[in-house]
Amino acid sequence: MIIASSHDFEKAARRRVPRFLFDYAEGGAYDEVTLARNVSDLAAIALRQRVLKDVANVDLKTTLFGREVALPVALGPVGISGMYARRGEVQAARAAKAAGIPTCLSTVSICALEEVAAAADPFWFQLYVIRDRGFMRDLIARAKAAGAEAMVFTVDMPIPGARYRSEHSGMAGPNARLRQILQAIGKPHWAWDVGLMGRPHTLGNLAPVLGKDSGLSDYMGWLGKNFDPSIQWKDLDWIRAEWDRPLIIKGILDPEDAREAAAIGANGIVVSNHGGRQLDGVLSSARALPPIADAVGGQLTVLADGGIRTGLDVVRMLALGADGVLLGRAWVYALAAQGEAGVTKLLALIAREMKVAMTLTGVNRIGAIDRSILAEGVK
Ligand code: GLV
Repeated sequence: MIIASSHDFEKAARRRVPRFLFDYAEGGAYDEVTLARNVSDLAAIALRQRVLKDVANVDLKTTLFGREVALPVALGPVGISGMYARRGEVQAARAAKAAGIPTCLSTVSICALEEVAAAADPFWFQLYVIRDRGFMRDLIARAKAAGAEAMVFTVDMPIPGARYRSEHSGMAGPNARLRQILQAIGKPHWAWDVGLMGRPHTLGNLAPVLGKDSGLSDYMGWLGKNFDPSIQWKDLDWIRAEWDRPLIIKGILDPEDAREAAAIGANGIVVSNHGGRQLDGVLSSARALPPIADAVGGQLTVLADGGIRTGLDVVRMLALGADGVLLGRAWVYALAAQGEAGVTKLLALIAREMKVAMTLTGVNRIGAIDRSILAEGVK
């Protein structure tokens, strides 16, 4: 199959991995309205074409949390991404490192954080609010010891969203394990490469507390049972005390919450609706971002995710007020399709597309991208 764009990776991934896994990545909450809006609202952002502006040297570099990065892009945290290729999170981290961008590993990864930290640079770790604070403290200490440079603290999952697709696809629900095995038989390359040779399939970071229950079959159950809906802003003081490196709050969709994040001294936020996987019907990231950037831009680093598949999308998000973006599905599809080489290719495509978009909007550095490159401003 010819891979010319990030969309081709999605098609290739669908062919390659069992349906329960593909649908887990592709799907969202309820009727997937916000999931679709993330893509369509971003695609509707029109850029202002400008010409004859001397854009012979376009520089894609920027600085995120004190580190120079080759692109204003990081691999965002995606649960069980190690199931999409053999030791998948390590393969993706290698590609990100070679491309000069950060990898943010999910709490619920397959590979343990130490295994991925050794392959990544810069390495960020994503943490959930888990009921067992002692376990959170241990994870923070492990992330510190492994050299994590930033903690991405996800706050939009006090309870998992209702994901109808998970039940239809066999990720959860009746006879899930049997259905997964039957689907894997239909994908022999994956079954051999990941199903057999990519073991163990335990949730690497949770194995110390879950022991033999840390397998994939208990994944959704664990998410539901262990998240803590009682968390409040003041509880973040505790995390601030344990973690003295950059702290990024992920899952902000409202300017009031963005101000709270700035008030507790967060170094960054991620404007995010969790890829349309939590509360369906909320605003897309592209629409939520501008008022949030107006409220706190300049006080902390504003990252965004949701619907970003191409370099053009990255430039759109920066024009709407982001300092950088996280990729989710885009890199998981590339990983599923071609492993490390796929993620490398995706990042090269993104860089190339960003360069074209910047050249034709007349900007030659990341810091110069703002609303002035939008054709219709922000509605
Ligand atoms: C986990 O974060 C998920 O969205 O499935």
